Amino acid sequence: MAGVSVQAFRRQGRRYGAGLVCSEMVSCAGLEHRNERTLGYLRVARDEHPLAIQIFGSEPGVMAEAARMVAAAGADIVDINFGCPVRKVTKTGAGATLLEDPDRACAIVGAVAESVELPVSVKMRRGLENGSRACLVVGPRLVEAGAATLTLHPRSARQMYTGEADHALTAELVSLVDVPVVASGDVTSRARAQSVLATTGAAAVMVGRGAQGNPWALREIVDGAGAAGPSREEVAAELILFVRETVRELGEHRAAGFLKKFYGWYLGRGRFPRAFKQELVQLDTTEEVVTRLFAAAPGAAEIVERLEAELPDPADEILLDSMPISIYGGG
Ligand SMILES: Cc1cc2nc3c(=O)[nH]c(=O)nc-3n(C[C@H](O)[C@H](O)[C@H](O)COP(=O)(O)O)c2cc1C
Repeated sequence: MAGVSVQAFRRQGRRYGAGLVCSEMVSCAGLEHRNERTLGYLRVARDEHPLAIQIFGSEPGVMAEAARMVAAAGADIVDINFGCPVRKVTKTGAGATLLEDPDRACAIVGAVAESVELPVSVKMRRGLENGSRACLVVGPRLVEAGAATLTLHPRSARQMYTGEADHALTAELVSLVDVPVVASGDVTSRARAQSVLATTGAAAVMVGRGAQGNPWALREIVDGAGAAGPSREEVAAELILFVRETVRELGEHRAAGFLKKFYGWYLGRGRFPRAFKQELVQLDTTEEVVTRLFAAAPGAAEIVERLEAELPDPADEILLDSMPISIYGGG
């Protein structure tokens, strides 16, 4: 998820049982131009695997080159974005627009699949307009072009995130292709995951918003554990770790703004009084945020210490030799 799936989010997802995690979407044009911030998305840590890195763009040759960089960075899967509904992306002919341009979509998948040894997956929406069934036309063609798996988020681009994901369409896609299909959309609990898997025949479910500030949902989905929810200390500890990791990845300046939306996600759901979140959002530095969290939940200190001791050393990360050092944020 763009603006969400930073490395801290992905590593946390793996710790809580996600079988596969995915990067934010990465612009192939940004990679082509060696944009520093874009290159930063290719940072892979040892404890993220298996990891998919998602690229978006509209030019097959540029996408193929981006895929080679993704492979060199150490990803396990190259994922292609044919789902982004945001105008900034669709107006360049990338993202969900490609669902209505199957020839170009296939040319992109073919070029990417040829350029790397890794499996290539595609993430799609149902189509551009409400009620569209474009994914059922383009999906089988993408498999022919080289996609090893398809993920469907069965909302239209126009819908953005409104209404419900129509997983009847996921079931139809499953019946049309002989590769694994991953179901994405509105999976927030084990019961929902089981029902989507049973009614669609999908090989897996993908969890997006349900895991925002809520890694405990992943554990519940995977093995039914912890349905009662985390203690306040556990919530504060995970948030403190998330803040520290994100500062290390993005640097204090970027992280301070980036993290604000996460405070509501972690502290909401009746876990902390609403005023507490308001207070955190207004603080200037992440250090102040961490101090306030420790004060609100003193028992978190012990959990943070244990979690930090278990994390691998950041020095073990795989880095591209050609990456400028300044992208490594806080170090
Ligand atoms: C903030 C946000 C950013 C997203 N960014 C991406 C993205 O970069 N690439 C992508 O394939 N899907 C992206 N998605 C869509 C999700 O992957 C997912 O398909 C969708 O949110 C439905 O699943 P959910 O109900 O589990 O959230 C994004 C969704 C949200 C809410």
